[in-house]
Amino acid sequence: MTRTHHLFLIAILLLSIASCKKAEEASGIDKELLTMADQTTGFTWYKKSDVWLDRSSGSGHNFARLRTRYNAIAATMLDSNGMVKTDAEFPEGSFIVKELTSSNTVERYAMLLKRSGDPAADSRGWIWGYVNKGGSLAEAASNKGSACIGCHTQGGSIDYMLMNKFFP
Ligand code: HEC
Repeated sequence: MTRTHHLFLIAILLLSIASCKKAEEASGIDKELLTMADQTTGFTWYKKSDVWLDRSSGSGHNFARLRTRYNAIAATMLDSNGMVKTDAEFPEGSFIVKELTSSNTVERYAMLLKRSGDPAADSRGWIWGYVNKGGSLAEAASNKGSACIGCHTQGGSIDYMLMNKFFP
């Protein structure tokens, strides 16, 4: 092999190492959502239970189990059974966290934060977060829920929420 060949092979090798970088870490708003979700006090569980539920048939989330909690502001939209009120319109500051796992410990958070006017908020004021527990990004909030909204506006959704429909 000539010297040029060698240099060429080395260049290819370096390029392939560079492109094999690790998953993108959450930063900015995604990191903020992750930090908020890592906090566990002050939340109310859906139907007042922290038991892991088997994912529903309609779930777009590829984890076997889930459970959902609401911060104090969002919890004002829960009824006495801990289900979302059928006419709910979540107020500003509402934060809803769906914990996802295929084991017993949280692997990913799916999050909704009502913060109208934020650069990452969609036309209804919601920010869609999808971040792995370890800090890597699953779906950037700056995509404004483009991977989520189609499914979350289906018949039976309440202000995007699907827990009531699939876990009545
Ligand atoms: C194909 C349908 C589908 C897609 C796509 C989808 N979801 Fe969901 N999501 C569901 C269903 C169904 C539930 C109810 C619980 C379950 O079975 O997983 C749910 C529950 C949730 C909840 C709990 C609150 C509630 O009552 O709905 C959050 C938060 C959430 N999803 C966020 C997201 C985010 C963020 C994305 C996009 C990155 C997304 N979802 C994409 C179907 C979907």
